[in-house]
Amino acid sequence: MSTTTLEPKLEKAMTTENNESYAQNIKNITVIGAGTMGNGICHVFAQCGYKVCMMDVSQDALNKAMATISKNFDRQIAKQSISEADKEKALANIATYTTMQESMANADLVIEAATENIDLKIKIFKEIDAHAPEHCILSTNTSSISITRISSHTRRMGKVIGMHFMNPVPVMKLVEIINGYATDKSTTNTIIELSKSLGKVPCVVNDYPGFISNRILLPMINEAILSLQEGVAGVEEIDTIMKLGMAHPMGPLQLADFIGLDTCYSIMNVLHMGFGNQKYAPATLLANMVQAGFLGVKSGEGFYKYTPGSKELVVSERFGNKKWQH
Ligand SMILES: NC(=O)c1ccc[n+]([C@@H]2O[C@H](COP(=O)([O-])OP(=O)(O)OC[C@H]3O[C@@H](n4cnc5c(N)ncnc54)[C@H](O)[C@@H]3O)[C@@H](O)[C@H]2O)c1
Repeated sequence: MSTTTLEPKLEKAMTTENNESYAQNIKNITVIGAGTMGNGICHVFAQCGYKVCMMDVSQDALNKAMATISKNFDRQIAKQSISEADKEKALANIATYTTMQESMANADLVIEAATENIDLKIKIFKEIDAHAPEHCILSTNTSSISITRISSHTRRMGKVIGMHFMNPVPVMKLVEIINGYATDKSTTNTIIELSKSLGKVPCVVNDYPGFISNRILLPMINEAILSLQEGVAGVEEIDTIMKLGMAHPMGPLQLADFIGLDTCYSIMNVLHMGFGNQKYAPATLLANMVQAGFLGVKSGEGFYKYTPGSKELVVSERFGNKKWQH
């Protein structure tokens, strides 16, 4: 079905308070930001047969994203979950762009997955709102920023929603769907059905700082960092206790390195400011590590040290004596 024939139906979703899902009419997806999350989101949509426009301000980021997607498809081929032909078909569904306007000319859904920064996201959403077709749903993959606040900078608050994928996107089943204060029911229902079409499990929550996932996860990570800061236990002990004692697949400090300590710090600040409660204050050790550029996997060192090509988990020398000293 062409986009022009879809528009009247999707238009109805914009103007009427209805419960209908328009997921079956969504064919063209534009993803803004080709980093860790953006490339994973493009991978999954392209594999499921959607036409994907991947946009980033950096050509280098787009090149890296295409290489990552190709490598991740190779992993699936090695596990025999897809064929070489499936990979070629999926890659042919992805086009890359460095200009916003061009990338969303035919979009039915835009998913913003750019850097976690409120001012940047507001600027991007104003631009998306100006260029995306009237019927297009605008979503964000933000980890913590208010959907309502982002939507207030558009002329279509009812069509703005949070679509929070988990990392790594091709592997993780959950999509946390966040309703802004003014999100239309039909927008929510469309995104629920669309998520199911990707083989994901959608869970709908309301727009409060950190939503559910990061409101619960990040204070746990912050508490692990405070425990390390106070010398209660070392990196290995903290992570081992949570892995073996609570059956977590990885310890909170390793997970913080994986998420990126800058992202963890930014989410804790959103919780702290949003709730105005001291219990969400980011650990000083976390703030220091971020300011010094020790961001975890992406910078090569956080609580652990990462050597390219090595899968061994090595505690950073800074925490090597097992007890962190002031
Ligand atoms: N990393 C995670 O584990 C994770 C998990 C869930 C959600 N998120 C959220 O997803 C979003 C992206 O995170 P990420 O880890 O992929 O970040 P990233 O740093 O890996 O990638 C961000 C990309 O955005 C691009 N970008 C910056 N400004 C842009 C603009 N104006 N237009 C287009 N592209 C632009 C950058 O060039 C970069 O390629 C954030 O909101 C983050 O909170 C991250």
